[in-house]
Amino acid sequence: MKYKSFGKTGIKVSELILGTWYLPNSVVDGKRSVNRQYSIRLIRKAYDLGINFFDTADVYRGVYERDKASYENVGLAEKIVGEALKGYDRESFVISTKVVGRTGPLANDSGSNRKHMRYAISRSLERLQMKYVDFYIVHGPDESTGIEQTSRTMNMLEEDGLILHYGISNHSALDLVKFLNLRYFSPLEPPDFIQDKYNLLERGLEKTNIKVAEDNSLASMIYSPLAQGVLAGRYFEKDKKDSRKEYEKWFEKNQLHATNKNELEIFRDKADSKGITMSQLALSWLIHKGKYLFPIIGATRIHQLEENIRATEVTLGDDEISELSNLFKVQSQ
Ligand SMILES: NC(=O)c1ccc[n+]([C@@H]2O[C@H](COP(=O)([O-])OP(=O)(O)OC[C@H]3O[C@@H](n4cnc5c(N)ncnc54)[C@H](OP(=O)(O)O)[C@@H]3O)[C@@H](O)[C@H]2O)c1
Repeated sequence: MKYKSFGKTGIKVSELILGTWYLPNSVVDGKRSVNRQYSIRLIRKAYDLGINFFDTADVYRGVYERDKASYENVGLAEKIVGEALKGYDRESFVISTKVVGRTGPLANDSGSNRKHMRYAISRSLERLQMKYVDFYIVHGPDESTGIEQTSRTMNMLEEDGLILHYGISNHSALDLVKFLNLRYFSPLEPPDFIQDKYNLLERGLEKTNIKVAEDNSLASMIYSPLAQGVLAGRYFEKDKKDSRKEYEKWFEKNQLHATNKNELEIFRDKADSKGITMSQLALSWLIHKGKYLFPIIGATRIHQLEENIRATEVTLGDDEISELSNLFKVQSQ
């Protein structure tokens, strides 16, 4: 595993980050539940293989739950990350977690205002069993709160030693520029990184958020780098059992695999010809795209994790990078 500076924070992180939105899961009593023991094994395996950066969120349950009224499993992913890394040298890994999403039924159980953020970070730290998080993320825009307040609160949390740096996720490029411009009009420190979706098939932010971040030496944490499995050939596999498509109805709407079938086959042939897998080629393309990009890999099986980590050993030439960049004609935002 190689380590590189996370934008201008100077913190050295692994080229790949492990995400915990979906954890290994199975059906128990007719309900899909997280397999805690296997999840812990997966996180520790990632650590043993050199990943030193783990991404989670206060709202992550480890499985998707459509039942919005149930807050029972909110924060479960944070608890599992905490359990998995407990006893490990705190200096040997970095954690990112997020705030904004609804975590409970009360009026103030969501948002990026000072009241909720102060409460949310204390709950996240409790669940993670940690004294601080390295990277705290505004999970999405909150139109009811001014960015000056959000930014000031983040700066206060930094001064209190509860977080080291902050970033923003799922914001428009305009919002990102507004956050960055705060430094010209106030003593507020802007975010140090962004977290957004970007992969060979979904390139809507390539010339906006990703570009603005790079121009400002901000790291970009890249989510869904494999288009949730499509770019790993998950839907070429005969056995689709327990796949995200099988258990998430909303995934069916994602027609990427259907509209791009021919190109995906060409992509698979390209990976075959290099003696690597589709997931390794897709991740390697991102790693080669620039020193500011950090793919967050999802994996629900240890063999997927092991396969994906080997992407860091792949070498791509400039001609291959541009050939891949031009391969997929039908793209989604
Ligand atoms: N900020 C945000 O709003 C936001 C949003 C989404 C995600 N994220 C973060 O980004 C992380 C990654 O997102 P993601 O899970 O969508 O990423 P992804 O890497 O695009 O998709 C992961 C899924 O792809 C399949 N897969 C992975 N490796 C595979 C392999 N080698 N062979 C076959 N299939 C493979 C697995 O699906 P199956 O389980 O179906 O096998 C796995 O769960 C999340 O965990 C979370 O931390 C953040």
